[in-house]
Amino acid sequence: MKEVVLSGIRATGNLHLGNYFGALSKFVRMQNDYDCLFFIADLHALTTHPDPKMLHSNVKNILAEYLAAGIDPEKATIFVQSDIPEISELYLLLNMHVGIGELMRTASFKDKARKQLGIKSDSDDIEKEIIGNESNKRVNAGLLTYPTLMAVDILIQKAHKVPVGKDQEQHLELTRRFARRFNSFYGVELFPEPENFNFGGTPVKVPGLDGSGKMGKSEGNCIYLIDEEKVLRKKVMRAVTDEGPKEPNSPVSQPIQNLFTLMELTSSPETLQQFRDAYADCSIRYGDLKKQLAEDILRITLPIRERILDIQNDDAYLSRVVRQGAERARERAAKTLQEVREIMGIRKF
Ligand code: TRP
Repeated sequence: MKEVVLSGIRATGNLHLGNYFGALSKFVRMQNDYDCLFFIADLHALTTHPDPKMLHSNVKNILAEYLAAGIDPEKATIFVQSDIPEISELYLLLNMHVGIGELMRTASFKDKARKQLGIKSDSDDIEKEIIGNESNKRVNAGLLTYPTLMAVDILIQKAHKVPVGKDQEQHLELTRRFARRFNSFYGVELFPEPENFNFGGTPVKVPGLDGSGKMGKSEGNCIYLIDEEKVLRKKVMRAVTDEGPKEPNSPVSQPIQNLFTLMELTSSPETLQQFRDAYADCSIRYGDLKKQLAEDILRITLPIRERILDIQNDDAYLSRVVRQGAERARERAAKTLQEVREIMGIRKF
């Protein structure tokens, strides 16, 4: 039997180049060798983006983007989280074995709770703030139990491998802990302990265009797969640079290294080398570098963009894909949920 690989993306916006190189392009290769499930986490999106006007179109965008990037519904199971009601039930049951303390200590919770309360400092008094807060700002319990829901996504499918970025490592660690705890409390071997999965070695970190860190939705430094040609060129041309090398073989600053890294992902090795050499001998012109980079990114994103637009217009196809995916994912989820109910002593008369 093939090992089960599962991963999900929250439905909170469009997918960017970071998602593409970090996740999608790898998913496309994994689907040939593993029993893959890729889903759209719309319930997770509700913890921070409860917007009934946007939710469905966000789900639809990501679905179209998954398909346009090459995930094949005949090879992998593609589904929408909320189409699997068994997930919500297991979330309730698993929560009985999860401590509020361990959830409150989760880094992503502290970050998001601070944001919701408008607290800037990284003081660890967050617990006091949450409990003592009497204004109408509140931290919703769904945010606190985000890791339970994520663990359920994984455990209900008995997934072995979960390809996620570094920011999700802690959630995966909690998932393993919850699995172990459940198994040992009831004296069963129900849930396998899932591990992170970096298909093909080292994880790629895709930098943004603002000269600082990683490309990310909330950083506002993204190139989206759906970006129009003109928009994309403009973004790349405006990418942060520096004043240029003053003497031969100068060290490369972060903003320039970011552009080289993007080139590494999208340009030919010769092109990259040419610009690295030009940097080393101080003949580099950042305008040329950016023009070339925009060209090479477009070569990848434009065909995907066209497919996204086509697929988005094909509602019949989209609903066929999610119905088929939900059917497959539900069958497995229902089986696991039934096992859990029996193990926990929930029985029918
Ligand atoms: N929390 C993940 C993120 O924000 C999304 C996610 C939800 C997920 N459930 C999952 C990822 C299960 C992997 C497996 O990126």
